[in-house]
Amino acid sequence: MDRVVVGITGASGAVYGKRIVEVLTANAFKVELIFSKAGKEVFEFETGVNYADFASSLPSDLVELYEPDDLFAPPSSGSHSVRGMVIAPCSAGTLGHIASGATANLIHRAADVNLKEGRPVVLVFRESPLNRIHAENILRVIDAGATLLPASPAFYTKPREVRELVDFVVERALRALLGREFGLIKSWGAP
Ligand SMILES: Cc1cc2nc3c(=O)[nH]c(=O)nc-3n(C[C@H](O)[C@H](O)[C@H](O)COP(=O)(O)O)c2cc1C
Repeated sequence: MDRVVVGITGASGAVYGKRIVEVLTANAFKVELIFSKAGKEVFEFETGVNYADFASSLPSDLVELYEPDDLFAPPSSGSHSVRGMVIAPCSAGTLGHIASGATANLIHRAADVNLKEGRPVVLVFRESPLNRIHAENILRVIDAGATLLPASPAFYTKPREVRELVDFVVERALRALLGREFGLIKSWGAP
């Protein structure tokens, strides 16, 4: 079963979530896509693309779009079978909800159930600098089994375009989620 949940929240870096969904669907993964309320707004502000138009531009047999307040949706249940979940970008607010277990929308709930089922949950966190609350919440989610993957590209690949910086983070996030490479960046040491 090649199905994953993707959450896009209102942190900066909507392009990370957009690219993750594009790469997953290009590789025939089914994506259950959830934008938070702020995620919709920041996505539109940063990419210039309406979130619903983006979702409908993708293969309809691969992408299911759920509203963040739809707590009856399949990703809300641990018995709903998925490989795992990635939240990209993940805001400090969403991190706090997941860390406390106080789920208030479908993104928090899906992360909560994937953690309890022992499935990969990857948080592409974007906030800087960190305060102590962020740092404590990061420890809590790592202790609960999540991968905290800062939206922090490396420069040893000598990137020339923003796309390459984005792809660095996307490749890392997808490897943490699915345990495989997607060929978006050259591995260190590769010719
Ligand atoms: C343009 C813009 C950029 C933002 N960037 C960040 C960010 O990088 N990190 C963050 O934690 N919050 C950021 N925020 C604030 C979040 O959108 C806000 O805290 C929101 O309530 C998060 O809700 P959500 O986690 O449900 O999406 C940003 C807001 C706006 C309007």
